[in-house]
Formats: sequence, structure tokens, C-alpha cells
Amino acid sequence: MNELNSLYDLIGGETNLRALVNRFYDIMDVSPEAKGIRAFHAKSLNQSREKLFMFLSGWSGGPALYVEKYGHPRLRQRHVSFSIGEVERDQWLWCMNKALDESELLSTVKDHLKTRFAEVADFMRNKE
Ligand code: HEM
Repeated sequence: MNELNSLYDLIGGETNLRALVNRFYDIMDVSPEAKGIRAFHAKSLNQSREKLFMFLSGWSGGPALYVEKYGHPRLRQRHVSFSIGEVERDQWLWCMNKALDESELLSTVKDHLKTRFAEVADFMRNKE
């Protein structure tokens, strides 16, 4: 990975990041494989799309949109009201890995993102 470029730039900035997040939620919305975690979300996924995009923007080294609007993400704390174990973690990752596989991103960038997302998703577990 080129140290001069942020992950945000390697993804291709706002356009590609929005496309990835939208694809992720489209997959979650229609896939039986993600039925469990889809049920945690509101009927409309619009707010989820916007929030995840804003969070990932800053997380990947781009504009810190989420922090500017909502303050510190306290991501684990914000997920405690949802029962997240290995099954739910793997459903989330299944959607994200599928969205990444379908994207036009460089395979090194895809692989890097898969590794990083796996770490964050595992950190979100709050039940055995
Ligand atoms: C491990 C499985 C996960 C499940 C089941 C899950 C589920 C949810 C649900 C149901 C919400 C509330 C609806 C919403 O506001 O969008 C939410 C919010 C959110 N999730 Fe997750 N999530 C998971 C992992 C992740 C990961 C890995 C990330 C980041 C890479 C993430 C980032 C966010 C963000 C930024 C929000 C909005 C927080 C807020 O401001 O309320 N989630 N998640």
C-alpha cells in the first residue's frame, strides 16, 4: 500500500465510497444470508447509508464527516442495543465482502479493506 495515499484516495474518494456503502446495504436488504441483521435496521436504510458513508469517510483518512456532525463515534457503544455475536458479525462481513468483490477497486485495496472490516466487525461483538 502506498504510504502517500490515504485509504480514502485509494478507494477513489466520495463517489466510490458512496457506491460501496450503497451496494453493501442493497445486498443486506435483499439477501436471505443477511436476514438476521437486516431486521435490526429500520424499514428505510437511508439513514444507515448516510451514517456509514460519513463514518467510513473519516475512518479511511478522508473528511471526518461523522465526527463533525455527531462527535466521537463510540462505535461499540452505539451497537450495544443490537445483539451481535459471531453469526451477526459474519452476516455483516458477508454483505461487505460481496460489495467489495463486485467493486472495481484494486485487489490490494479490497484485501486491505476486508482485513480491516473483519477487525472492526469482530470488535462489535457483544454476546457469546
Ligand atoms: C458486526 C455486525 C454489525 C451489525 C449487526 C451492525 C448493525 C447496526 C445497526 C442495526 C445500526 C443502527 C442503524 C443505523 O443507524 O444505521 C448500526 C449503526 C451503525 N453502524 Fe453498524 N453493525 C455492525 C458492524 C459495523 C461495522 C463493522 C461498522 C464500521 C465499519 C459499523 C458502523 C456503523 C455506524 C457508523 C452506525 C451509525 C451509528 C449511529 O450514529 O447511530 N457497523 N449498525
